[in-house]
Amino acid sequence: MRSEHSAAAPSPGPPERGAAGSATAVAHPNIALIKYWGKRDEGLVLPWTSSLSMTLDVFPTTTRVRLESGSGHDTVALNGVPATGETLRRVTAFLQLVRERAGSGRRAVVETHNTVPTGAGLASSASGFAALAVAAAAVYGLGLDAGGLSRLARRGSGSASRSVFGGFAVWHAGADTGTAAEADLGSYAEPVPAADLDPALVVAVVDAGPKTVSSREAMRRTVDTSPLFGPWAVSGKDDLAEMRAALRRGDIDAVGEIAERNALGMHATMLAARPAVRYLSPATVTVLDSVLRLRRDGIAAYATMDAGPNVKVLCRRADAERVAGAVRDAVPGGTVLVAGPGPGARLLGEGA
Ligand code: DP6
Repeated sequence: MRSEHSAAAPSPGPPERGAAGSATAVAHPNIALIKYWGKRDEGLVLPWTSSLSMTLDVFPTTTRVRLESGSGHDTVALNGVPATGETLRRVTAFLQLVRERAGSGRRAVVETHNTVPTGAGLASSASGFAALAVAAAAVYGLGLDAGGLSRLARRGSGSASRSVFGGFAVWHAGADTGTAAEADLGSYAEPVPAADLDPALVVAVVDAGPKTVSSREAMRRTVDTSPLFGPWAVSGKDDLAEMRAALRRGDIDAVGEIAERNALGMHATMLAARPAVRYLSPATVTVLDSVLRLRRDGIAAYATMDAGPNVKVLCRRADAERVAGAVRDAVPGGTVLVAGPGPGARLLGEGA
């Protein structure tokens, strides 16, 4: 595990020039402390609200993109297994976007290795599309800086825009006016200044089963039908401003309180959707109770949940084992692991 968590996020590497034969990149998942939920433009993946996350030091995705001469179908393999269906469609659409920008017609062979244990409840789309963006931009010679890589990763999966950076990152929603090109330019992630928090995220996997509703569909339904979506999006602006201030002063209690209320609010928007989307399970609530007990015992521990029943508990690194123990006791059948702040996406190498 790594311990750095300052604003000095590792850069995703220098701009790449000229198409190479292959490039390999590595990226880590991130967990949002201020959530992204809802797109104002599905094609460009523009969110309604800005979000803020911590990139983790566990479960990297490594992706190699190799160019083949001539056009034709891209091939994509995930952990050695050919991708099909929606995954293949999303990766191919992403590569097509890169090709259009590069003015290239060359097809790609993509090999991705995910280290997230199956069903660990950590989305692999953030690390996956961040690694793919960095590798594909290099191999097709797009010459992008970190902001450009973040914008590009966003087109694959919104949360991937944040995994381009290490530590804490904010993804700007961008202005809601102007042309599509201006809107695209305004929506990217960048590192967030933070004082020394020494944080950990205790990840409690309470249910490794597949989602009943995809997060894309759940977001759409929430935006279209939930009367709570608007108020949550508005209060999220205050949450973000307060979160940035709390990070700057290194106030882990404030960071945790804001993250917890923002996540619970996001789930409230889904519960009010028609029909309701409910990702939280009885085991989720059991973990939330254990987090409350920890707080009553004077431990700074705060929960956040994404599009699933699993819980991530923010705490001080010094308290992480105690928090992990309390969570393990609460859900004896679950899997509990401790993560810290991790690095941004980076290029590993390229060759012919
Ligand atoms: C609940 O980034 O996976 O984890 O843009 O449709 O690919 P798409 O969605 P994705 O959504 C993440 C939603 C979330 C909150 C967050 O990470 O901010």
